[in-house]
This record gives sequence, C-alpha cells and structure tokens, in this order.
Amino acid sequence: MAAASHVPVLIDPLIAAVSPIAGTWLDGTFGAGGYARALLDAGAEHVIGIDRDPLAHEMAVWAREDPRLTLVQDTFSSLDSHGQALQGVVLDLGVSSMQLDQAERGFSFQSDGPLDMRMSQEGPTAADILNGATEEMLADILYHYGEERASRRIARAIVAARPLKTTAELTAIVERCLPRPKPGQSHPATRSFQALRIAVNAEYGELAKGLTAAERALAPGGALAVVTFHSVEDRMVKRFMQSRSGQTGGPSRHAPVVESAPPAFEIVTKKAVGPTPEEVARNPRARSAKLRIARRTDAPAAAIDPASIAMPIVKGLNS
Ligand SMILES: C[S@@+](CC[C@H](N)C(=O)[O-])C[C@H]1O[C@@H](n2cnc3c(N)ncnc32)[C@H](O)[C@@H]1O
Repeated sequence: MAAASHVPVLIDPLIAAVSPIAGTWLDGTFGAGGYARALLDAGAEHVIGIDRDPLAHEMAVWAREDPRLTLVQDTFSSLDSHGQALQGVVLDLGVSSMQLDQAERGFSFQSDGPLDMRMSQEGPTAADILNGATEEMLADILYHYGEERASRRIARAIVAARPLKTTAELTAIVERCLPRPKPGQSHPATRSFQALRIAVNAEYGELAKGLTAAERALAPGGALAVVTFHSVEDRMVKRFMQSRSGQTGGPSRHAPVVESAPPAFEIVTKKAVGPTPEEVARNPRARSAKLRIARRTDAPAAAIDPASIAMPIVKGLNS
C-alpha cells in the first residue's frame, strides 16, 4: 500500500481566511486527511470527512482513532445527507498524491498501469470509455473536459489504435499527435489524462451538485471553501459564488423585470487566492491551485442550472 504522502495545498491561507473555527465542519475530499486535521487543530469540534475512494479510508488510521472525526465513504454531491447546520464545508478537488503514485490505479501518464482512473473503484473505467465511445464523443471529452485543442486528431488516433489497455499506450498515442513540449511546458498527455479522469469520475457533475449540497447544508455564517486545480473547475466555482451572491451582472433593459431571490452567499475572496512562491517550491502540485471562499447567508437554498455556472456537458456521457 502507498504511503500517506499527500501534502495539503493552500491550507494556511484557507485556515486564516475562515478563522475563528468552531462547531462542525465537513471535509468533502478527505484524502490523507490534511485539511481535516488542520481544521481540528484550529478549533473545529467535529469534522465529517467524506471520500469516495476506499483507499483513503483504509489509510485513515489516525482518523479512526480520533473521536472528533466521522469518516464516510461517499461522493460529496450528497454531502448534505451526512451533515446539516454546518459551520463550514471544504472541498480540495481532484486526485491525491497517493492516487497518482499508485501505477495500478491508472491516473498517471508517468508510470504504466491499466487504464482505470476510478476514484470510487467501481463503475466504467477509462478503458471502457476509450474503447466504447464514438470518435466524436472522445473528441468532445478531450476538448470540453481537458481543453485539448488537438482533440479531433487524438480521438482519431485512439479509435485507430483500439482496443487500448494501458496508460503507456494512451501516452504514446497522444505524444505522436502533439509536438514535443518546449522546456517548462507540461507533458503533452497532461490534458488528455485530466479529461478522461474527469469523465470517468463525472467530476463536473459532482462539483455542481456538491456546491448546491453545501448551500443546503451550511448554517447561516458558515464558510464554503473550495480549492481547484484547473481553469474549468475554477470558473464553475467562481460563477457559482457570483451567481449565488447576486453578482450576475445587471439585467438587460429589454428583459422583463423579475423579482430576484435574496443572495445565499457573500463572497469572502474577491480574487482567487493562489500559492506563494515558497509553497510552490515546497510542493509543485500547488502551482495551479486556487482557493475561493464564500459565507452562507440566512436566505433559503435554491437549485441551479449547471449551464449557468459554465459546466461543460458532453452529449451522451453521464455527468
Ligand atoms: C486533492 S485530494 C484531497 C486531499 C486532502 N485535502 C488532504 O489534505 O489530504 C482529493 C480527494 O478527494 C476525493 N474525491 C474527489 N472527488 C470526490 C467526490 N466527488 N466525492 C468524494 N470524494 C472525492 C479523492 O478520492 C481524493 O482522495
């Protein structure tokens, strides 16, 4: 089993921005428990830790022994069924270092393994999608979920090479479709692996549902803090916080006047908070991290249309 080697990202600015901390908090992406532990150390009386990955639970030995922690194996889209009247909800999106480091999980193009990529270790794998989807759907996944501009070329090459079994096979296909990276540029397979992982785990649907679940679960004054790692998910969090705090731009003067609902959040971080150069030097994974925080008001919770927060949708794929 891999060692618990995940270094928490942006944890100091997060704790500083939401302090003073008290009452019950929910950590929807428990991972190695770095956020949960920091919340307890900073004054939380109880933390509910959710992770969909059975590995995170197997490794959470210290957490099982701490009576202030309740661990739940589930997705954070239904976090409101595990806690109510919360003082805070934290989400640290994406994969953990433990998941990336285990070649057999298939998350990384840096080591060869089966094309799996399932955080929950159940449901269709990356291989199922790569070998079963139409060329058009594959191109849409790469383009909309990974912002890969060579999506059509890569999708055509994948279909020509099917069936694919290993991460090394996928990496080699992407490398053949794209120019060699210049010094300082990321590996050409980065965006394709990200896109597939997002598709396998329905990550954008999870995020849209998780944000609205947090709105239902937070007490008035409670904090919602979200750390993202790429522009699509950061845009979704930003749009959600803007729209639910009433900052959606002025209505058109031609539009009919509609009574607007009272804002459910107040934005705390006017601009996203990024890592300091020292944090990036210590932990390169923090390079693209962005933290956004909003505080719940006492207005009633409401549903949102995922399109209104710029959630990319791929036709025919479960999200
Ligand atoms: C970046 S890591 C979190 C690390 C954690 N903050 C720490 O300090 O150790 C993300 C974790 O969230 C989990 N995860 C991602 N999406 C999830 C979802 N929709 N529901 C529940 N867990 C999820 C992953 O399995 C992974 O363990």
